[in-house]
Amino acid sequence: MKVLRNKKTLVDYIERHKEMGKKIGFAPTMGALHLGHISLYETAKKENDEIISSIFVNPTQFNNPDDFEKYPQTLENDLKLLEKAGVDAVYVPKAIDIYPEGLKSKHYDFDGLDNEMEGKYRPGHFDGVGTVVEELLRQVQPHNAYFGEKDYQQLAIIKKMVEKTKLPVKIHGVLTLRENSGLAMSSRNLRLTEKQRKEATIIYETLLKVKEWFKVLSVKEIKERVEKIFQDSNFELEYFIIADEKTLKETDFFYKDKSYRAFIVAYAGDVRLIDNMHLD
Ligand code: PAF
Repeated sequence: MKVLRNKKTLVDYIERHKEMGKKIGFAPTMGALHLGHISLYETAKKENDEIISSIFVNPTQFNNPDDFEKYPQTLENDLKLLEKAGVDAVYVPKAIDIYPEGLKSKHYDFDGLDNEMEGKYRPGHFDGVGTVVEELLRQVQPHNAYFGEKDYQQLAIIKKMVEKTKLPVKIHGVLTLRENSGLAMSSRNLRLTEKQRKEATIIYETLLKVKEWFKVLSVKEIKERVEKIFQDSNFELEYFIIADEKTLKETDFFYKDKSYRAFIVAYAGDVRLIDNMHLD
């Protein structure tokens, strides 16, 4: 596996592989890799000749500097995992390779997708994500790029950014990979204590209940039940909403011709956990 440590080496690598007519699949990450990332590469391998990943903890998408400081950095281990996963090359840029003019986000019009959920709780987050993903896609020039459905709103926003910038890449969502307990795999799980990790299954279990309640209860009744579950737990619910899967707008009623998704964000101590589930 090639480790490409700056933009110049990446550009040379991409040029060579494009000349050879290789189809490139790309999955960007912020490192602290786990099996959820590996499933992105597995999916990418089925549809591409050359698999490229990147590791870059992007400062502009952290609205909370503490979260940025504490973001797990496990580069040596990540490189081993990538090699084992059969990734062909990993781009590990420095900030200057992505932000030559300083750490600033671009401003995007995501058609309102960024006004919901994470957008409300993490101001500026999606402009940061859009900026780094657009720049990585411009540099890597993949045919296909892969993102996990765990960050469903991020996936929708990246699709919107690609539609608006007309970048020639197809964006694919990959199903959330879960631990045996149902906890969605996430780099942040590394920061949970053993006890919190066990208890964190409350998020998945609640989503499964919501899927059942969705068939018989109103949005209001479902919300009350979810809030009660979290009040009786060691987790602090930041938000629970049921949203239209396309617009990501919260719904108060269910309409037959629409698809819905439930979203939960909860804190275990200072660790912010996020998950979602398709409902119908
Ligand atoms: O989901 C992530 O790991 C990050 O938000 C991404 C897409 C790599 C951009 O920094």
